[in-house]
Amino acid sequence: MKSETVTAQGPKHLLQVKGDCHPDWMNSFFPKVAAIKRKLRTREGKYELRQLLQGRIANLLFLESSTRTRTSFDMAAKLLGMETVVTSGSDNTSRAKGETLRNTLLAVLGTRPDIFVLRDADDDAAKIAAELAEEYYGGLPVINAGSGKKHHPSQTQGDHTTLWEHACEFRGIFVSHHEQPADVLARCGPESLFSGLTIGIGADVFFSRTARSFAFQTAKYPIKKIIFVTDPLLAPPEELKEYLTELGIPFEVTGNLDSVLPLVDIWYWGRPQAERFETETQREEVRMRTPRFQITLERSERMKPTALILHPQPINKESLEITPDVQYGSKRCITRQQSDNGVPVRMADYLWFLNREAFNSLS
Ligand code: CP
Repeated sequence: MKSETVTAQGPKHLLQVKGDCHPDWMNSFFPKVAAIKRKLRTREGKYELRQLLQGRIANLLFLESSTRTRTSFDMAAKLLGMETVVTSGSDNTSRAKGETLRNTLLAVLGTRPDIFVLRDADDDAAKIAAELAEEYYGGLPVINAGSGKKHHPSQTQGDHTTLWEHACEFRGIFVSHHEQPADVLARCGPESLFSGLTIGIGADVFFSRTARSFAFQTAKYPIKKIIFVTDPLLAPPEELKEYLTELGIPFEVTGNLDSVLPLVDIWYWGRPQAERFETETQREEVRMRTPRFQITLERSERMKPTALILHPQPINKESLEITPDVQYGSKRCITRQQSDNGVPVRMADYLWFLNREAFNSLS
């Protein structure tokens, strides 16, 4: 197991994968999500879950647009018996009147929710919120639901949970009602989860928090290699390349998707984050080269027979980084499973932060 900066005990806030998602902690997290999913399938199980966080309140402040992260955090809260206060879009806040991020955060933290879930365009927004929560509000937990181009830890939790489920299935391991998490993990632990695999990440790494978070987290496992497939304008940042070097993970950066199609086991694909591009020229240049980075049916057929394709979504209807025949027609494309895992993953997060005993008892 590669080194990690935090202990395996788990995080106090969920701000970024690098510091907050220790592989040992994630190892205990996957079966908790599986247990929640089993309970959600029965009326009795749903009733039981609804008692676990009765009367607690989550404040969801989404200052950037979102479909799946916002709705899944909201739904997850309600399935646990919580109430939510949801703000969607910075135009509906006093940011539109010129208020600073810090003052907006103080205003919301000052309403004293039990937990604060934040999405913002600023790379450091969640970190600032956690610092304010520690200084003024008794350390109430902060979950980063996407900050700028850098961090989206709960998305990566969902991505890795989805891959864990596939690894279990691939190896004939099923998480049955009677099986204890420890039994499952003994046979499908993180050491074997990505062992020896080649990971392909594209097509925007520089501006994509989902791609960056996935790369930072996946690099903690004994993978064979990461191949970044991007336009030069969207190549991985120095910080990520230095981290991979520090961990001894081999990587390459290429603009030639066709040349690496047969090499990759897990594809983590994504949308060019046009809203973060700095100039109109950059936007136009990336748009012109987009077809080079499309996963089409023809390209998917040249991949390894066992390769999987993930995409955190949304898929852009113009750049179509995964074409609909692949998204809806190819078994290797597991984007829907990824998205559907949003609710149980976020339920596990709420339980971790707000009812540790219930989290530990999930089986
Ligand atoms: N994956 C993701 O963050 O999607 P949304 O922007 O729809 O929340």
